[in-house]
Amino acid sequence: MIRKIVKYGDPVLEKPAGPVTNFNTPELRGLIADMWETMYAAKGLGLAAPQVGISLRVAVIDTSAGEDESKKFILINPEILNQEGMQVGEEGCLSIPGFREPVKRANLVRVAGHDESGHRIELDGMELLARAMLHEIDHLHGILFLSHLSPLKRDIIRRKIKKLQKAGEWD
Ligand code: NI
Repeated sequence: MIRKIVKYGDPVLEKPAGPVTNFNTPELRGLIADMWETMYAAKGLGLAAPQVGISLRVAVIDTSAGEDESKKFILINPEILNQEGMQVGEEGCLSIPGFREPVKRANLVRVAGHDESGHRIELDGMELLARAMLHEIDHLHGILFLSHLSPLKRDIIRRKIKKLQKAGEWD
């Protein structure tokens, strides 16, 4: 089932999500299945549960946009173990549609987390995957990519979004 993607301005996007404590449940599997469907329908490379209004530490990532099954990753209760290097690249967010800006991120990242059965996993990412992992983990902390921009750029985007909200074009 495709769920509604929550847009910037909804408080659920800016509060830390809670940990998953029950694995292997129909609710968790259903949430993840819906998140895949919602992400692909919106043509995103990643989606975090708060973006569908669920404040849980769950994210899905597919940097191949559905082209390569081996590029699909589920992160549950992820923790960053290590970050190295630096990359700058354009970033967008399904909750902030229409805005893309260069964001500085680590180039290599190692993350520990759990799969949907509760097994501990470790995942290494580099370049685009590292960027996606860090962007989604930020979401689980209630942080949006706007936080990584200069205050000036952030204010410009916020003002544009406010105008869209007033015009009823941001929902
Ligand atoms: Ni995002």
